[in-house]
Amino acid sequence: MSPGEKLDPLPDAFILQPPVFDPVVPYVTTIFGGLRAGKMVMLQGEVPLDARRFQVDFQCGCSLHPRPDIAIHFNPRFHTTQPHVICNTLHDGRWLAEARWPRLALQRGGSFLILFLFGHEEMKVSVNGQHFLHFRYRLPLSRVDTLGIFGDILVKAVGFLNVNPFAEGSSEYPVGHPFLLGSPRLEVPCSRPLPRGLWPGQVIVLRGLVLPEPKDFTLRLLDKAIRAAVTLKASFADRTLAWVSPWGRKSLISAPFLFYPQRFFEVLLLGQKGGLQLALNGQALGATSLGRQALEQLRELQVSGSIQLYCVHC
Ligand code: GAL
Repeated sequence: MSPGEKLDPLPDAFILQPPVFDPVVPYVTTIFGGLRAGKMVMLQGEVPLDARRFQVDFQCGCSLHPRPDIAIHFNPRFHTTQPHVICNTLHDGRWLAEARWPRLALQRGGSFLILFLFGHEEMKVSVNGQHFLHFRYRLPLSRVDTLGIFGDILVKAVGFLNVNPFAEGSSEYPVGHPFLLGSPRLEVPCSRPLPRGLWPGQVIVLRGLVLPEPKDFTLRLLDKAIRAAVTLKASFADRTLAWVSPWGRKSLISAPFLFYPQRFFEVLLLGQKGGLQLALNGQALGATSLGRQALEQLRELQVSGSIQLYCVHC
């Protein structure tokens, strides 16, 4: 790039932090752009059989001396007669009042998926798909820019996600679809049956990484007649994203092109009356129209192109 040339300004909200697989604990990482309402952190792992305790800290910085404030300290303890979880805040080197949850949904020797969901006033935590606790912020969420994981825990994956933009205002708890690494079921080209078609409210989730030197990436929804009723195509040569009709007519989606080599991405498709809504990296990007009957007649999702998949859910 020549010195005077400017980089495309990319809104921070469009960039997704890549997941981390099998990190060594203690593990400390920067949260890109810091935490804000609408973000989620997903933690997949196992509790060792001899675990005493572990902690997940949402920290304000990462200095060692002085010790940074910890806005949210999530601390399962297994070594007491009644295993429990403590949440607390460390402010100016002092722990504030502990909040304690006696019923521990985690077990020694068990695997888990913990979802930390950050709202405006409080953090909600679900364990294996069940709501577990909520904790009101005592320090502003905007100060948190670091995640620290310490203690007796085996971490399989840490994901940084945005809440489904279509679920805004709904009381439904976001579901954490686990990341899988190297699963044969996720080899590209990848296909998933849709035995009952798509119906309003159903979401298709696709998460993955763009390969180095990508050409294109296509997502197709085939109907009963094995016709591609819906095609979403990302072309890297001209950096365009488009819906392609069954007759090959392209309609470009006017939004910044968010796919980059070796970057993480998330595509969400939401079935709704009269069409499919698209969100990319947590940002709603409009819809393509498709009648209810056409949605019901969809039978297969096909994904192909220059990507590695971590998660396909439909
Ligand atoms: C302390 C413990 C700290 C932290 C804190 C939370 O007793 O030493 O590691 O867990 O409780 O209140």
